[in-house]
Amino acid sequence: MSKEYNVGVLGATGAVGREMLKCLVDRGFPYGRVKALASSRSAGQKVEFDNDEITVEEVGPDSFNDLDLAIFSAGAKASAEYAPLAAKAGCPVVDNSSNWRMDPRVPLIIPEVNPGALRRHKGIIANPNCSTIQMLVALKPIYDAVGIKRIVVSTYQAVSGTGQKGVEELAEQTRQLFNGQDPNISVYPHRIAFNCLPHIDVFLENGYTKEEMKMVNETIKIFDDQNIKVSATCVRVPIFYGHSEAIWIETGRNISPESARELMKRAPGLLVVDDPAKNLYPLASEATGRDEVFVGRIRNDPSCENGLSMWVVADNVRKGAATNAVEIAELMIRDPQLLKTDWPV
Ligand code: A2P
Repeated sequence: MSKEYNVGVLGATGAVGREMLKCLVDRGFPYGRVKALASSRSAGQKVEFDNDEITVEEVGPDSFNDLDLAIFSAGAKASAEYAPLAAKAGCPVVDNSSNWRMDPRVPLIIPEVNPGALRRHKGIIANPNCSTIQMLVALKPIYDAVGIKRIVVSTYQAVSGTGQKGVEELAEQTRQLFNGQDPNISVYPHRIAFNCLPHIDVFLENGYTKEEMKMVNETIKIFDDQNIKVSATCVRVPIFYGHSEAIWIETGRNISPESARELMKRAPGLLVVDDPAKNLYPLASEATGRDEVFVGRIRNDPSCENGLSMWVVADNVRKGAATNAVEIAELMIRDPQLLKTDWPV
């Protein structure tokens, strides 16, 4: 009988945690016992798993002793507390929060882009920001073929990126506006229904938001390229699932849109949908529930010598979070060395 792995999901009651549980089943991950972990607030609740339900347990220091690996999507604070405890207990953690991403001890992994960096892990592996993941899956074949000097990106990000509370806020405000009521505003600083907010995460001293700087810094770390220049504008839009991105790149050498399209067609995890004459281009509505990244509108950028423009879409909760984490776990179980931890005490 092939080996089965005992897996913990921390944040199992959240939007991403629920999708992580679903991903384990959908992708045929060889799980044995699956532990659904969350805070004391939801201990005893049931969450769906493989056409059944499992009972949520409150996370504690001993939750990880009997697990082979854990995937976390419970925010930075819980991750800062529990990821080192799990790693020290011999349970490697794939963490979806921003807490560890820039830590030099922690590799930041997109399986299609930099799987080799996984070898350097000591027990904690970080899942990049959703917007970075889909951008780099799309750009990787071009980066490898001709290099990329500069990226300018504008995002159109769904409310599920804020978690279950973002989804509920958009639904509630939409209902209220259709009923002629004033919308309750609690999750975002302004109404999100029928609006676009150029504000994701907090503003920093340089005028950018933390979300925008994540795209800059994570790209440098994942491509391991200190010279690549990135400028991002991140916008929250009234869509439930699926992030879209308008991306402009300046490449190292010239590449035609046709050649870029051919390279992208062969790249893992990437689907080219690019036939504007038939109104075919990537759409958030089509990407929802899918594990691939979609790219289209691939064309020359006439504003610079070696420039390309494109439109990239992915399900932020799947490839932007849960799928990417489960794919990292899949890489780890292929090599027993990768299931070992060595977190500094
Ligand atoms: P809980 O439901 O018990 O609060 P989302 O991103 O959709 O808001 O979900 C966040 C997830 O992270 C939830 O499952 C939530 O559990 C969990 N979580 C948040 N903070 C903690 C914490 N300090 N300890 C354990 N789980 C946490």
